[in-house]
Amino acid sequence: MLDTIQMRHDLGEIYDLAPNVKLANAMSAEYARMSRVVNPVDWAIHAPYVAAINKLKKERGAVILAHNYMTPAIYHGVADVVGDSLQLAIKATEVQEDVIVQCGVHFMAETSKILNPEKTVLIPDMDAGCSLAESITAPDIAKMRAQYPGAPVVTYVNTTAEVKAASDICCTSSNAAQIVAAQDSDTVIMTPDKYLAQNVAAMVPEKKIVWYDGACIVHEQYTAKDLDDFRDWNPGTRIIAHPECPPDVVAASDFSGSTSGIIDYVTREKPEKAMLVTECSMASNISDALPEVDFVGPCNMCPYMKMITLEKILWSLHTMSAEVHVDTAVAQKARVAVQRMIDTSRALGL
Ligand code: 13P
Ligand code: SF4
Repeated sequence: MLDTIQMRHDLGEIYDLAPNVKLANAMSAEYARMSRVVNPVDWAIHAPYVAAINKLKKERGAVILAHNYMTPAIYHGVADVVGDSLQLAIKATEVQEDVIVQCGVHFMAETSKILNPEKTVLIPDMDAGCSLAESITAPDIAKMRAQYPGAPVVTYVNTTAEVKAASDICCTSSNAAQIVAAQDSDTVIMTPDKYLAQNVAAMVPEKKIVWYDGACIVHEQYTAKDLDDFRDWNPGTRIIAHPECPPDVVAASDFSGSTSGIIDYVTREKPEKAMLVTECSMASNISDALPEVDFVGPCNMCPYMKMITLEKILWSLHTMSAEVHVDTAVAQKARVAVQRMIDTSRALGL
């Protein structure tokens, strides 16, 4: 576990991290991308970290890959690449830099390492997990295979390297239905997200899909009644849900897609009012680019994603920690499942 008190003390000895209005004003281009959601005082607090990270990133020859759930200061201030799980995995195969700092949760950093065994992959907080990744083990996959002999195992990328290694192919929320449809079998095992599996089952009725009992602690909290109530209180609101939500929530929404699918939809449609049924930072990150859209409605925070902070990113680059390692034999097998997903996605034009 990170010793945050020590980290703060040590960083303060080396870098000038005091709130700095002059620096904040000089960094107005970065601020313009988040000014609707980050107040000027907070920006004066963030700016010294953003400046220090961007300088150190160059010195270390590092690239920052950030998930769409990162806070606006990370997403707009220090990230070199932003995206959903599939985009980040593909981008990880293309970056030139020797060091990848993964601003997201552990399974994402592991995926980058699996695809880049020769690169140094850092995660600013090793404890940034995921309820889905924690819900299933490789022996659980073996049990499902025994129950449904011959059925291919399609595993969500929100899993450990060991679980990926025990699977036939991976998927993300942006390609799950197409990956399942492409399997040469009437029965398909989907793990670990039962809701994603149920949502895919509705889209691919020709397959018998059997699922594991995992769920995302952020998206399982939404109910169809919440959405109905919300429509009553805010008539005309476009409701957009991530497919990790329960099927009745997805059915009650106007659109469902991966985090990047959601961003693309709102950017294209520009609804007057939008409710994003997903993690909080999603609306914040696109707010400034879409001033015509009023983002309304509740949002839930992912406690794991929010463990990644500017302070920890600076510490990670300063100390070149925490480095993500994956056992070579496990990585080799997991790479097959991840690469199959990437290849199938490319072949399908996704
Ligand atoms: P996306 O692949 O849609 O970005 O989802 C990742 C995730 O963890 C959502 O909770
Ligand atoms: Fe995992 Fe849910 Fe957090 Fe995504 S939002 S990282 S699925 S716990």
